[in-house]
Amino acid sequence: MIVTIDGPAGSGKSTAARKLAARLEIAYLDTGAMYRAVALAAQQRGVDIREKPALLEVAETIDLHVDCGPTHTRVQLDGHDVSEAIRSLAVSAATPYVARHVEIRALLVDRQRAIGESLGSLVTEGRDQGSVVFPLADAKFVLQASLQKRAQRRLQEMLADGEEVVLEEVMQNLRSRDGVDAKQWEPLLVSGEAIVIDTTDLTIAEVIDIMAETISNASL
Ligand code: DC
Repeated sequence: MIVTIDGPAGSGKSTAARKLAARLEIAYLDTGAMYRAVALAAQQRGVDIREKPALLEVAETIDLHVDCGPTHTRVQLDGHDVSEAIRSLAVSAATPYVARHVEIRALLVDRQRAIGESLGSLVTEGRDQGSVVFPLADAKFVLQASLQKRAQRRLQEMLADGEEVVLEEVMQNLRSRDGVDAKQWEPLLVSGEAIVIDTTDLTIAEVIDIMAETISNASL
């Protein structure tokens, strides 16, 4: 079974995807981690992320390993575990420059499909999972939430990770990413293929219940 969860940063999709995967006892794939790893690699190699040819070379030459457990996606970059390092605000700000290139997207989409094929069943989250990567997925969800709520959630995560950041900075980061990111899942909204869940006033347990119920009603 393939379940896709798309939506903006802070919509709760990562936590929802992890917990849903654990409940369904299948693997969990965080595709944002793959784009983040390319951005981190560019920073480590001193590559200007606005320079397309150099950035493409980074994406083509990194040694990227993605380990999908039921509750985590751990990422190894050139032999080192970077699962925490890819969460910094600097990497978050650089990653859209990676994600906007169709060539890099094509590379990572191929990797994501290969992971899906080898695992058979998974809950995968990102921006284009239901629209591009797994168009034949068994269940597709789009999670949304107000900008204020999303910024508060991201702020809590980042403070917990020891980042020094203020709410306005996080809101600015989300705002600048929103317009570009939304184009990825908009086709699902237009076609009505996805179940849209507004998580602004829902607990994570309520979101998981809605998803699990939808899947069970569809007899998947
Ligand atoms: O979900 P996230 O915040 O970790 O995503 C990081 C960035 O990667 C964000 O700018 C959106 C982009 N992304 C994407 O374009 N397509 C995906 N499938 C996953 C993430």
